[in-house]
Amino acid sequence: MQPWAEILLGWYEEEKRDLPWRRSRDPYAIWISEIMLQQTRVETVREYYHRWMTRFPDIRSLAEADLDMVLKLWEGLGYYSRARNLHKAARLITDEMGGIFPTSYKQILALPGVGPYTAGAVASIAFGLPVPAVDGNVLRVMSRIFALPEIDQTSVQTAIKQLVADHFPPGREGDYTQALMELGALVCVPRRPLCDCCPLTGQCQAYEQNTQSLWPVIREKKPGKEIKRLVVVIKRGDEILMHQRPATGLLAGLWEFPGVEGSLKKELAPKFTDEYGLQLKVGKHLVDAIHVFTHLQWDMKVYEATLAGDDELGGKPDFRWIRLKELEQLAIPTAFRRIRQVLFTN
Ligand code: ADE
Repeated sequence: MQPWAEILLGWYEEEKRDLPWRRSRDPYAIWISEIMLQQTRVETVREYYHRWMTRFPDIRSLAEADLDMVLKLWEGLGYYSRARNLHKAARLITDEMGGIFPTSYKQILALPGVGPYTAGAVASIAFGLPVPAVDGNVLRVMSRIFALPEIDQTSVQTAIKQLVADHFPPGREGDYTQALMELGALVCVPRRPLCDCCPLTGQCQAYEQNTQSLWPVIREKKPGKEIKRLVVVIKRGDEILMHQRPATGLLAGLWEFPGVEGSLKKELAPKFTDEYGLQLKVGKHLVDAIHVFTHLQWDMKVYEATLAGDDELGGKPDFRWIRLKELEQLAIPTAFRRIRQVLFTN
């Protein structure tokens, strides 16, 4: 074993966090945790993971669940396609693989929602296969140890994957994968790494050259596009008219307070009629809300409204009147939480 990998494993044994998915070798449990961890912080995942594993302890219980229930449990975690893909994959495993979680890297990679990183993580952690799982943390750690600062270049990423793959310690594949992630999460952090606590200063080229705060080189990201939206809370007695978003694209299939692009109150009713065929009577301003997605941002002005006249919703299956009380049961994206909160406090 390479000295740095050996030292890293020793450090991991001593310092690793006691995380619930680390107590399991069940590929299902590890898969769920890795999908949740893809875009979400460990502390947030803990609670969701616990609720999920209580409600869906195995592939079969997930496959048998309604998608609505699955999405409801995911509410607040964001990137809902992850939940949809978990559900789809559980059904695929049940229907086409005899209910047994696939055991090879290639088969795991073929599951919906699983990319090379997650497939590598599950393959190494659950099955002890020597397949690298290289995320942002691992790129940063390796970039510093091996003096490969330009991690946004594909060639550098490929070199790092190869280096990780070349140093798998036999019999400790899963620990090695997690030790690299753990060092990146706890010690070899992006700005001001905690080199005083690092077991690998003697092996680290960045430390030797005192460039650990300069590496890896991060290029400025273009800020997300700002989209102004006019959103309405359409009331009828104690009911609210909700809209189901299209099956593909942003927040696919989730329920929303309907809206249109724009920033002026007077644009709202005509644009709404244009887009949805419904006549609105727009009322008072309720709240402003911002929601930041990875690649864009919604600046929302929210108004109360009623439907003008006796508009029927016939032929509009993507609209539904929902009792205020039942709004809790609908999977509503985080973007609209603030609005729901205002409704419940008014
Ligand atoms: N991030 C991604 N996978 C992880 C894991 N298994 N443990 C901690 N953080 C992670």
